[in-house]
Amino acid sequence: MGRYDEVFEKSIQDPEGFWAEAAENIDWYKKWDKVLDDSNRPFYRWFSGGEMNTCYNAVDRHVKNGRGDQAAIIYDSPVTDTVQKITYKELLDRVSKFAGVLRSLGVSKGDTVIIYMPMVPQAAVAMLACARLGAIHSVVFGGFAPHELAIRIDDAKPKVIVTASGAIEGKKIIEYKPMVDKAIELAAHKPEKCVVYQRSLVKAELAAGRDFDWDVMMSKAQPAECVPVQATDPLYILYTSGTTGTPKGIVRDNGGYAVALRWSFENIYDTKPGEVYWSASDVGWVVGHSYIIYGPLLTGCTTVLFEGKPVGTPDPGAFWRVISEHGVKVLFTAPTAFRAIKRDDPKGDYLKKYDLSGFKYLFLAGERLDPDTYHWASKLLDRPVIDHWWQTETGWPITANCMGIEVFPVKPGSSTKPVPGFDVQILDNNGKPVGAGTEGLVAVKLPLPPGTLPTLWQAEKRFLESYINPLPGYYFTSDGGYIDEDGYVFIMGRVDDVINVAGHRLSTGEMEEIVATHRDIAECAVFGVEDGLKGQVPVGLAVLKTGTGRDEKELRQELVSMIREKIGPIACFKQAVIVKRLPKTRSGKILRGTMRRIADGKEYSVPSTIDDPAILNEIEEALKRIGYGKRAV
Ligand code: COA
Ligand code: AMP
Repeated sequence: MGRYDEVFEKSIQDPEGFWAEAAENIDWYKKWDKVLDDSNRPFYRWFSGGEMNTCYNAVDRHVKNGRGDQAAIIYDSPVTDTVQKITYKELLDRVSKFAGVLRSLGVSKGDTVIIYMPMVPQAAVAMLACARLGAIHSVVFGGFAPHELAIRIDDAKPKVIVTASGAIEGKKIIEYKPMVDKAIELAAHKPEKCVVYQRSLVKAELAAGRDFDWDVMMSKAQPAECVPVQATDPLYILYTSGTTGTPKGIVRDNGGYAVALRWSFENIYDTKPGEVYWSASDVGWVVGHSYIIYGPLLTGCTTVLFEGKPVGTPDPGAFWRVISEHGVKVLFTAPTAFRAIKRDDPKGDYLKKYDLSGFKYLFLAGERLDPDTYHWASKLLDRPVIDHWWQTETGWPITANCMGIEVFPVKPGSSTKPVPGFDVQILDNNGKPVGAGTEGLVAVKLPLPPGTLPTLWQAEKRFLESYINPLPGYYFTSDGGYIDEDGYVFIMGRVDDVINVAGHRLSTGEMEEIVATHRDIAECAVFGVEDGLKGQVPVGLAVLKTGTGRDEKELRQELVSMIREKIGPIACFKQAVIVKRLPKTRSGKILRGTMRRIADGKEYSVPSTIDDPAILNEIEEALKRIGYGKRAV
């Protein structure tokens, strides 16, 4: 038995023993009563009865243990021409002061706080300060429009919103504060207070009595100590796209998450305390929560907080500069970032300018890693390029080539094997396991390991309906895929209305709901088509109300504006066409899968259940007008 098999078997046969041992790397005020509490299945809880504080484990204990002068965060911002090192000691000072600020504004254990910020250290400080008080943060990605922020405000009901005056996106200055004001206006729930970090690039107007200046508050703050919380208390809510316009509030607990992330560092990423780890993502996504903030800091690593893009800030050598300048050992990003670098610097000329001798691994996730990008990156870098698969729900990887356990040969297109703790199975529609090499629904046998979602925020029924009821006894991932005869997992894509655009998870169902509100549209479909840079982009098909003559280009522009206004620019909704009808089954189900294959130029067979096969010709013609499509076989 190889080392991986040994570790994996132990994690499945004796999960309590396995995770109790991993939990020794976390400091507890009180040890747990039960490692795995299964008294209320399928709501499994880890380390129940245990008391700890995630901020203490991520910051205070490193200062106590002699890491005070080590950089905790390197803030590298090519867009503002700033590089700033924040030691663990300085981080402790800032976090305890900001926790004092929040406390002075009435925030205490169990309260919720929304953080809507760009990639500045203050975002990390705000998250850790919430954790310090036992308050629950909900970070909302800055590319979301006020309408989306308002939905999250109404669901999370924050006492306070923490924001910044603005951000720089490439060369554009984006003002955040007016978006927060608009969101509060749209929301039914009105947060009592806002803290605004004023950046020199843009000044925000503050509403007297409601808005407070970050720097002013910090200058008079009384530092706050860590508040012990139950391991099972929520650390954060992170909203992610489901199949409808209402996002899912993924709940993350404190204890299990800290144990799992700390374990993942050495075992998946082969990264030890003191090393430099860089996740080029955004604090608004799960990767940002787990691998910009909590994972590296819980481990005592130095984390890089990068405010820039893979290209254009200022050139496709940005990643190589950061790696060499800060001695990065591991880079984690989305495949789309590498496709952008490949597009702008196909021969990798920029790489030659930098010393990358300390750089050991590239980890990619967030979307499927296409074999072309894999081959290009591994040839260019000449070091392991590791595809790993996970979801906002799981909080950390489900499948990976675990560099700290045993290194397996790569099979391009596969994210290698299940990570210990995740009993991954492929099932048919009736929940029966299928054989090696057969595609089916990807599921994980319950219980999920620590760190994964215990439930959805105040939506237990939706948790059961989305994840548990479809395949009883399993967590349903909503991804399709297969496991080959060597145990390698191949994730082939979502089986629901969720798409991944530049590694950002979006709901086509939500886009359809928005498009359907256009006064001239009777019916519509939005689905994801393949895109050479962003992996997938959404395309809309609209059926007009009878008697409505509309110019296609003009209508498209209106729909693009509607999606930008409601969801935000990150939806990348740029294409829509008018069709006379949508292809449907005889029972009225829209054939999105067939349309997607047509748009992607893949061969497709005409479904036997289609009500009118002739309609597919029109769909082909319509998609051709915007540059997609191929004929049926
Ligand atoms: N705040 C406000 N707007 C934002 C934003 C933010 N934080 N992030 C993105 N946007 C806007 C962009 O300005 C752009 O607006 P535009 O349509 O007006 O030009 C739009 O959202 C789309 O952004 P993006 O998808 O980032 O496209 P891009 O063309 O600017 O950049 C890449 C392309 C590939 C360089 C970029 O998508 C990228 O770096 N991807 C990596 C993704 C990643 O790390 N994902 C994390 C998951 S692990
Ligand atoms: P998110 O919750 O934003 O992390 O998105 C999760 C979804 O992204 C998964 O359900 C997959 O569809 C997709 N995904 C993430 N990582 C990978 C990967 N390595 N390979 C294929 N798909 C991935």
